[in-house]
Amino acid sequence: MCGIVGYTGKELALTPVLEGLRKLEYRGYDSAGIALATTTGHKLWIQKRAGKLGNLEEILGSTIPESHSGIGHTRWATHGGPTDLNAHPHLDNDGKLAVIHNGIIENYLELRLVLEKAGHTFKSETDSESVAHLLSDARKQRKGDLAAAMRDVCRQLRGSFTLLAIHSDDPGRIVGARRNSPLVVGIGDGENFLASDVSAFIAHTKRALELGQDEVADVTGESIVITDLTGKILPHNEFEISWDASAAERGGFEHFMLKEIFEQPKAIADTLLGRIQGLDEEVTKGINLAGIEKVVIVACGTAFHAGLVGKYAIEKWANIAVDVELASEYRYRDPSVDSNTLLIAISQSGETMDTLMAMRYAKERGARVFAVCNTNGSTIPRESDAVLYTRAGPEVAVASTKAFETQLVAMYLIGLHLGRIRGTMSQELIAEIEHELSELPAKVEQILETVEPLRELTRRFNSATSMLFLGRNVGFPTALEGALKLKELAYMHAEGFAGGELKHGPIALIEVGTPVVAIMPAANSLLAEKMASNIQEVKARGAVVIAIADIDLPAADYLVRIPKTHEFLQPVLSVVPLQIIAYEMAIVRGNDVDQPRNLAKSVTVE
Ligand code: M6R
Repeated sequence: MCGIVGYTGKELALTPVLEGLRKLEYRGYDSAGIALATTTGHKLWIQKRAGKLGNLEEILGSTIPESHSGIGHTRWATHGGPTDLNAHPHLDNDGKLAVIHNGIIENYLELRLVLEKAGHTFKSETDSESVAHLLSDARKQRKGDLAAAMRDVCRQLRGSFTLLAIHSDDPGRIVGARRNSPLVVGIGDGENFLASDVSAFIAHTKRALELGQDEVADVTGESIVITDLTGKILPHNEFEISWDASAAERGGFEHFMLKEIFEQPKAIADTLLGRIQGLDEEVTKGINLAGIEKVVIVACGTAFHAGLVGKYAIEKWANIAVDVELASEYRYRDPSVDSNTLLIAISQSGETMDTLMAMRYAKERGARVFAVCNTNGSTIPRESDAVLYTRAGPEVAVASTKAFETQLVAMYLIGLHLGRIRGTMSQELIAEIEHELSELPAKVEQILETVEPLRELTRRFNSATSMLFLGRNVGFPTALEGALKLKELAYMHAEGFAGGELKHGPIALIEVGTPVVAIMPAANSLLAEKMASNIQEVKARGAVVIAIADIDLPAADYLVRIPKTHEFLQPVLSVVPLQIIAYEMAIVRGNDVDQPRNLAKSVTVE
């Protein structure tokens, strides 16, 4: 959702704030704005603009006042359209206090009515502006103590929020707070940073602090004080950022997405490192995996598809029932869950609200909660009993690629681990899976050598209005993932089907020329023949078939060959051509690859 950044310290604030916003733009790009507390005047210097960050940069001009503290925001609209007025920061009526917000204030309407009655004038349609007015009043009551005011206000708010506030009368201070939305503090030397995630400041410091639920940070260039909402001072929960600053740059690639596709072999190898022979105690120490009776996987979007693949592997290898649930649906149907349930929450960002809420629901009912996550210090791993970090590095493009690959790997590692401790896998099978896992990075590398011909092939389908994806077994979730990628990037109709379901309805969609991408099961799988029949069925109705297969397939109109692997591991390979197809289709249609319309990387609202 929205990206939030704050800087206070010895440097001029504009540069680190804008740099941070650039790194966070993937979180939201409907509008952007900054507020600087100047060293000379008693008003804040505010600029904000609808559209991408570039629009804001264009209006900044050269007469920027001297300032050593400031806050910046990049927005993904929820309440109120993406206009200049709705862009953050929002000011109080004195023009002295500015607030930026990520999340949703659920009781904003009632707050607004009370504030308007008390004489406050609102300028925007947002839920966030209420906070600026509330804070302004609270600060006056607290005799200028902005942190105390923030604590008072947070107690009145319902919903989810990360908030940063700055006041022109106390220019070196930034006060932040969070509930259900992320906020990290970067610890510098004579300077400090606040941001939605560490990528905003890793170029400046690798030391960071996590803020827990309902905590408030009172930050100057020289000090950081963390309190709960009663004002009790809390210890610093400091961690070292392992990501490299350059990992969040485009590094010569035209788009982050393409760079991230090419980083997949390394991301897979890193995620496997030291774990193939078993998950170490570091991963599993907080959780008792003995005696579980069922596994429930909750996730959204691409992570959900990784969970669906995980179901096939975990059920078979660990001989245990696995349900995979859309996190947004899970808690609203009163599912059966207890202390013998292992709940696995999969999330790249670790902040997806739907997944977080599903996880909390299960935890409250006694489930043992295991997170699979890519972002250190984010909320989902922090609230879990144990976490298996995928080591994909920062994923900036909104469309998930390398995170998906590493989520698949995490599913296999968990399946293998459960299979070992439950004694449900033969030594031969364990050895085979270990071997096949270790070969995956090289095999993905091999597929990446075919990127150019695949891009050329994709361009042939430029005028298609719809594309269908067919798969069976683990190829079915792969088909769903291929269709999701195409929808979000190319803005075209795409659907994934299980091959066996075709005859129950979807085959009616096939017309002469409809492109159908068929994800062939591994050649030695029982389902290979069934899928070959599905190809004949769609071809007989005029479809043009692009097959992703590990053998030659004369029935296909076009063939994308992938290396052979164990049948459950195949999605790691077969998804790569699907990512390239979606990437290229977005380019030929002139779409924004890294920031597709209407989407945000991290979805922190329900
Ligand atoms: O951060 P998460 O893994 O929890 O995000 C879940 C989905 O929002 C995400 O995978 C989304 O579907 C991607 N944009 C798809 O490419």
